[in-house]
Amino acid sequence: MSETIIRKMQMDEPDERRVLDLTSQGLIGRPVTRPDGPAKVAGTASYAGEILPEGTAFGVLVRATIAKGKVASLDEASATAMPGVLGVFTGERFLRNPAQGGADAAPVQGASEVAYFGQPIGLVVGETYEDARHAAYTMGVTYEPADDASVDLDTAKSERPDAKQLDQGDLDAAMAGAAHGVDVTYTTTPDSSAPMEPHASVASWDEEGVLTLRGSYQMLRHNRIELADALGIETEKVRILAPFVGGGFGSKLGIAPEAVAASIAAKALKRPVVVAMTRQHVFEGTIRRSETSQRMRLCTDADGRLTGFGHDSKVSNLPGESFSEPLAMTTHFLYRGENRRIGHEIRRVNRTCAGSVRAPGEAPGMLATECAMDELAEVCGLDPIELRKRNIPDQQPENGTPYGTRLLAECLEEGAHRFGWADRKAPGERREGEWLIGMGVASAARTNMTAPASARVTLRADGTALVETDMTDIGTGTYAILTQIAGEMLGLPADRVEVTLGDTDFPPGSGSGGSWGASSTGAAVMLACEAVREQVCLRMGVEPSALTMRDGEAMAGNTRRTLEEVVGDEPVAATGDFEPGSTTEQRVMASYGAHFAEVAVNQTTGEVRVRRMLGVFSAGRILNERTARSQCIGGMIWGIGEALTEDLVHDPRDGHVVNRDLAEYHVPVNLDAPPIEIAFLEELEDWGSPIQSKGIGELGICGSGAAIGNAIYNACGVRIRDFPATPDKVL
Ligand code: MOS
Repeated sequence: MSETIIRKMQMDEPDERRVLDLTSQGLIGRPVTRPDGPAKVAGTASYAGEILPEGTAFGVLVRATIAKGKVASLDEASATAMPGVLGVFTGERFLRNPAQGGADAAPVQGASEVAYFGQPIGLVVGETYEDARHAAYTMGVTYEPADDASVDLDTAKSERPDAKQLDQGDLDAAMAGAAHGVDVTYTTTPDSSAPMEPHASVASWDEEGVLTLRGSYQMLRHNRIELADALGIETEKVRILAPFVGGGFGSKLGIAPEAVAASIAAKALKRPVVVAMTRQHVFEGTIRRSETSQRMRLCTDADGRLTGFGHDSKVSNLPGESFSEPLAMTTHFLYRGENRRIGHEIRRVNRTCAGSVRAPGEAPGMLATECAMDELAEVCGLDPIELRKRNIPDQQPENGTPYGTRLLAECLEEGAHRFGWADRKAPGERREGEWLIGMGVASAARTNMTAPASARVTLRADGTALVETDMTDIGTGTYAILTQIAGEMLGLPADRVEVTLGDTDFPPGSGSGGSWGASSTGAAVMLACEAVREQVCLRMGVEPSALTMRDGEAMAGNTRRTLEEVVGDEPVAATGDFEPGSTTEQRVMASYGAHFAEVAVNQTTGEVRVRRMLGVFSAGRILNERTARSQCIGGMIWGIGEALTEDLVHDPRDGHVVNRDLAEYHVPVNLDAPPIEIAFLEELEDWGSPIQSKGIGELGICGSGAAIGNAIYNACGVRIRDFPATPDKVL
């Protein structure tokens, strides 16, 4: 093979070449089916914990049963004496848990320091899972409980990080002198990320001291560094494999305790060790979304133009954790208002670590913002769509930055037309038997992010292409999208492209998080393919501008060759390196949309049924209509959960998670999810990535719960400010 060529790009200026429009395979945007689908349906796709090397031992985590304090003793001797038990592991490194996905995140718990109920404090390894579980669950543990455990948001210590406060103009004066205003406080409950596949790791070490971890993680390039750091070894000595990931929703952005525990035990026992969390461990011992309290102060002039916008919030996390739910993500740029106040307070509680859960910030933030906008529309006497349209700013209201592509008004208008918004009545006016019917609307917005990403593309002797990156597919469609981009660029049908993901031996992709995966890793694949195309031109002796690649052939002028002929016995390989650059400072970039919901509220029982939903979205280039639509539907269903059913309940005595499984924690099920219509408005964003796409993975959850809350009000006149809207609150 010839030497690998490297094609780099840093996004410091818009890329207006729109390379994907200059190709001719016709794969981009099409609802291409997932190449990984058959293996998943047939059960042959291997998830973490499913492939156990010969001789694998089983580990089960021991978890703390106090909110805060010290582990005084672990009765290792009697546990070790139990049948089939191979060892008990604990120690200072054991609990390194940089749950936020950053390599530099500091652990807050030591092995002997307990910071929350359910925190892993040890690992028992046995010949069988049952041996290990029995010993782990019966092992004697004594504690020195601290007397200052704090599990209650209202009485917990409070911090106000300077970087998250904003005071512009004079909001108090604006509120006092405004023609219309609302001053309302919304609360939301903690959520579980609840991925279908629990966290699991299989660790094995080779003779050279190289650790291979088969795990279930979103961001392998970072997870590898985190794991090496936790174990005190070089990054090069760690290989992580995660070819399939059964959902992450943020809980697998950073490594979780089972990965470190499995690695430590496997090294000591000199045999592979699997640690698979139970559902209860995932709920208690990974991350949760913070509960929130959000005071919204909005005021307008007589025409309903915002003059003030205030968003003061309280969230919670463990003492010392740097992450806090960034509720004002969209508040900074979504609506106008020259007098602005953003306050952010973190309450330090001894509860499961709070971290990024799907659309961290926007999901609960827009639930409050978009419901408050509905309240404001009513006091202004304006249609809620009209109020929103009047308040779309010309430039970012805090710093004057221009906007990138933004079809917010168009999404609202298109949605109103499709949904039949004109038929909406006043609260209480539409009735079907004992059901009151209402419609609600909300804006959708999600900040667009990109991340560094690399990928290698090889054109092989048989005229097929191989894509290699440590990028993950967490159910989102990465395999499909990267197949399409490589196929498009190299003129190959989808079945002649092989995409291999989830192996840190490959060039580091962006990982899956922040809705940046497709734009970032897709850009890396595109760049690699550009370099491959140039090599094809060199071999054919033609100008790049003359080259057309389609259906496995390369054509230029009168020259026409199959890719097998072009490649011969010398495969062409190139690596694409994508780096975000200064365009993110030059433009406010976000994906936008509009949510519509119709609900029926039972006047007798207070039950709310969502009858239909519509989401109209604009997110730059839609790479795959099927996977994009599927992401939006999933997000919108999560909005039903936020609005109606999900509430991670913590016991007020010791902060333990009460409903720690999918039977007691109510994610919306099929019967809760109505027909959901999705529409995309076409646009291309040149400032974000050379493939002109924007993030879509988390867009569907941003605002969808608010559309439901607003529909409840329109149905029955009850304004829910304390989500979820369970029947007791609706009646
Ligand atoms: Mo997402 S919460 O950034 O995995």
